[in-house]
Amino acid sequence: MSDFVTESIESGVQILCLDRVEKKNAITLDMYQALTNALRRAELNPEVKVTLMHGAGNDFSSGNDINEFVQIAQTPEKMEAIMAFLQVLTSYKKPLVAGVEGRAVGVGATMLLHCDLVLASRGARLQFPFVQLGLVPEAASSHLLPQLVGHQKAFEILVLGDVVDATQAYELGLINHLCEEGEAYKMALFYAEKTAALPVEAVALSKDLLKYRAQDDVQMALMREGRIFKDRLRSTEAHQAFTAFLSRNK
Ligand code: COA
Repeated sequence: MSDFVTESIESGVQILCLDRVEKKNAITLDMYQALTNALRRAELNPEVKVTLMHGAGNDFSSGNDINEFVQIAQTPEKMEAIMAFLQVLTSYKKPLVAGVEGRAVGVGATMLLHCDLVLASRGARLQFPFVQLGLVPEAASSHLLPQLVGHQKAFEILVLGDVVDATQAYELGLINHLCEEGEAYKMALFYAEKTAALPVEAVALSKDLLKYRAQDDVQMALMREGRIFKDRLRSTEAHQAFTAFLSRNK
């Protein structure tokens, strides 16, 4: 495992925690790799019935580490670690539950679109600032979000990149239930254990039935976005946005 992703298995629930609090749980390539490996192991482990993802501290995740975006722009092969994670996430057969406190930015927000249950605190704030960073949406969000909320709302969220607060996200159907701040993990664990107690095969078959028709479109969107995203990482617009973030005066 990466130093910044912890894993435990309790009562049939694999618990994956993004634990890089000092950087708001920004995700590095090592963390993607650790998450990918953990999900692959879980698929083969009958002890794991459900996977729960959450963030340590007060935030879910501030998304991809922007320092590493700069490195990937110079060495595009490094993007494979991100694509491998998205591949395993989008085709994961067991139920995925997320507990969201605070910020969920970039891939920290798009990964929620692949979770089966999203439990969030009233202080949760989702943001998809791809265009502000000179990039394009990823993780098949360009396909899934318009389907969920309609084109105009998806444009506002994905292109303008405005923050979506917890109430809005709940009303749009991005979040199943809201709770008080600090309670998201507890509520997510409750739902994960509730799901884990159900007949395992029936749950897996039902998830597949709910998802199979969208699967080809999701994979196509992943590939299309991935190609463009890789190019955009090397664009002048992205370079300027990364430099502005990394050299900002706080
Ligand atoms: N990549 C790298 N470092 C990040 C990061 C990221 N995605 N998000 C936060 N950090 C770092 C900050 O640089 C800061 O580091 P420092 O203390 O060494 O200076 C630390 O984490 C705390 O972040 P800070 O910005 O001070 O916290 P905040 O509460 O004021 O703001 C965010 C939180 C998430 C709104 C803000 O950090 C942010 O916008 N991050 C970038 C999000 C993003 O664009 N992600 C990529 C999406 S594709």
